[in-house]
Amino acid sequence: MSGHPMVRAEQVHKSFGAVRVLRGIDLEVRTGEVFCVVGPSGSGKSTFLRCINHLEKISAGRLWVDGHLVGYRQRGNKLYEMREREVAAQRRDIGMVFQRFNLFPHMTAAENVMEAPVQVKGVRRAEARERAEQLLARVGLADRMNTYPSQLSGGQQQRVAIARALAMDPKLMLFDEPTSALDPELVGEVLDVMRGLAEDGMTMIVVTHEMGFAREVGDSLVFMDEGVVVESGRPREVLTDPRHERTRAFLSKVL
Ligand SMILES: Nc1ncnc2c1ncn2[C@@H]1O[C@H](COP(=O)(O)OP(=O)(O)O)[C@@H](O)[C@H]1O
Ligand SMILES: [Mg+2]
Repeated sequence: MSGHPMVRAEQVHKSFGAVRVLRGIDLEVRTGEVFCVVGPSGSGKSTFLRCINHLEKISAGRLWVDGHLVGYRQRGNKLYEMREREVAAQRRDIGMVFQRFNLFPHMTAAENVMEAPVQVKGVRRAEARERAEQLLARVGLADRMNTYPSQLSGGQQQRVAIARALAMDPKLMLFDEPTSALDPELVGEVLDVMRGLAEDGMTMIVVTHEMGFAREVGDSLVFMDEGVVVESGRPREVLTDPRHERTRAFLSKVL
């Protein structure tokens, strides 16, 4: 674990017009940890992930990734908003995996994984392809290099999506309900890949309803409701002995 946290949120607020979605989020994600986020639909989990990689701009508060303010540069006591190019550079270091896999349908698995390194980083195709082969092997799809998404199961597509995110060498991976769209029998293969990443030391924020995964793989867990962190702690403790009634009510529905 290094000196500063990988993510630090201090009173992060986000509103859409009059709708206050995040209402003062405080949390810290340490480098190398698996940080799980659970909570009911509409509690602001996805919005918070989107703020971390600056797909949404926070309305108030401070948010740091790897010691850098997200979207702002600080000079003395003044904050300057970053230009789009700087924002894009910051976002490049953060991998995101969505509920819907969002693969490019007209590209093979290998091409999907190669696309960002080639287009964004200018990596040579041969090199990118070699790397794609390694990454697809890592997610158990070495034999699917030349397969199109439509020929892959949901679980396989999601594993390609993980390989694609890893191809940019992220220092942080965000997972937004990565198994929610999958048939139950395909959930395990995706969670296994995520478990492997955790073992390799990747810092991960995982929004999930998979409480077994959270308990076994998570280092920390927060329960969010109505735009605030209601409680946080070791997953085992929060899940087996929640202190707040709202957490208890939520867990009784999902466990
Ligand atoms: N772009 C947007 N414009 C307006 N409201 C939004 C937008 N994105 C999210 N919301 C609202 O924010 C709330 C929280 O959404 P979300 O972050 O997706 O919650 P969760 O991921 O926990 O289900 C919801 O009420 C949703 O309708
Ligand atoms: Mg969501």
